Amino acid sequence: MDYTTVLEKIDESLLDINKIDSLKRHRVIKMAAALLQQGELVAFPTETVYGLGADAGSGEAVARIFQVKGRPQDNPLIVHIAGKKQLVDITVNNLSATAEKLIERFWPGPLTLIMEKSPLIAAETTAGLASVAVRMPSHPVALALIEESGFPLAAPSANRSGAPSPTLAGHVLDDLKGRIPLIVGGGPCSIGVESTVLDVRGNQPLILRPGGISREEIEEVLGYHISSAGAISKDSNKKPASPGMKYRHYSPETPVYLKKLSADTMAAELAKYQGEAVAFLITDETACGLTAVAEELLEDKVFMTMGSRYTPERYASQVFAVLRKLDRLGLTRIIAEEIPERGLGAAVMNRLQKASLKE
Ligand code: TXA
Ligand code: MG
Repeated sequence: MDYTTVLEKIDESLLDINKIDSLKRHRVIKMAAALLQQGELVAFPTETVYGLGADAGSGEAVARIFQVKGRPQDNPLIVHIAGKKQLVDITVNNLSATAEKLIERFWPGPLTLIMEKSPLIAAETTAGLASVAVRMPSHPVALALIEESGFPLAAPSANRSGAPSPTLAGHVLDDLKGRIPLIVGGGPCSIGVESTVLDVRGNQPLILRPGGISREEIEEVLGYHISSAGAISKDSNKKPASPGMKYRHYSPETPVYLKKLSADTMAAELAKYQGEAVAFLITDETACGLTAVAEELLEDKVFMTMGSRYTPERYASQVFAVLRKLDRLGLTRIIAEEIPERGLGAAVMNRLQKASLKE
């Protein structure tokens, strides 16, 4: 596991879903596909976060993903496909009417469906489970790479296990330099949080992880309410069964705290940290309150505005990059503002809850 990691960026003008055929002939995609065919790992962009890909049918290749990331062996991977034919190959049983509807509406895109797996998927990919998580990404580089490789790609987020997910090629380099041969750069990930993981095996779909497609969007297509498997439950306030585990999810080194903030309470909040180098991730609504705050309270503080609390898309697209950036500043803590768990807000809050410490 000793590589000279090459970062090859694909020109922005080629990042177009209608240019997949020319992307497939691109030198970098050819190079990446050849490495994957040799059982090597390649990092690539998706619309959610960068992924660390391997041939999903090769237990040996997939085992390296776990090794390179330092990922717990019992955490299964998502399999990325480029077309319906691959879905038929890697699953058994016909698609349910529910799955059909969701695929029709949300693929390609940030929705991962849990289905029964076929033997074409290596046991290592699913951590021994009989089910497989499948998604068709919408990023043209991801689609071109899967097509050119000729097989579905098992790919977790391309970060060291526990760190914030990578939304820029440079984040992957920071985490995996020397551990993989190639990073394909394809610009910043537009959504910025991972896909929604939805189990569609039962009578009613169940959200296992909130993500890029919101509960509300799914409910609109299905016409009824669906539930989450404790994804954002109050359980996160309980002591973890395995101490230390929960604190290393999506976390920078600097401790993160999640708080309700508002324009009216910012002065009082800042007063608690006088003389401390603290960063705040705040919404536009809360940022408005800073104009009324005494200057000395602003000293040593860093403020990152994350957009309106009512349109969480900006918070989602920036949250991991901001956590990584702030981590380099030698701060004592990072305080992130809570936002309503509506739309993408549910995914943002889920990641921040996992990244944060309880005061
Ligand atoms: O947007 C995404 O989903 C990104 C990009 C790269 O596609 N991938 C990603 O992978 O977030 P990862 O490995 O970081 O997260 C995969 C999640 C984990 O929570 C895992 O437990 C769950 O999907 N998962 C995978 N296979 C599963 C299965 N068979 N049953 C239940 N959960 C599964
Ligand atoms: Mg991950």
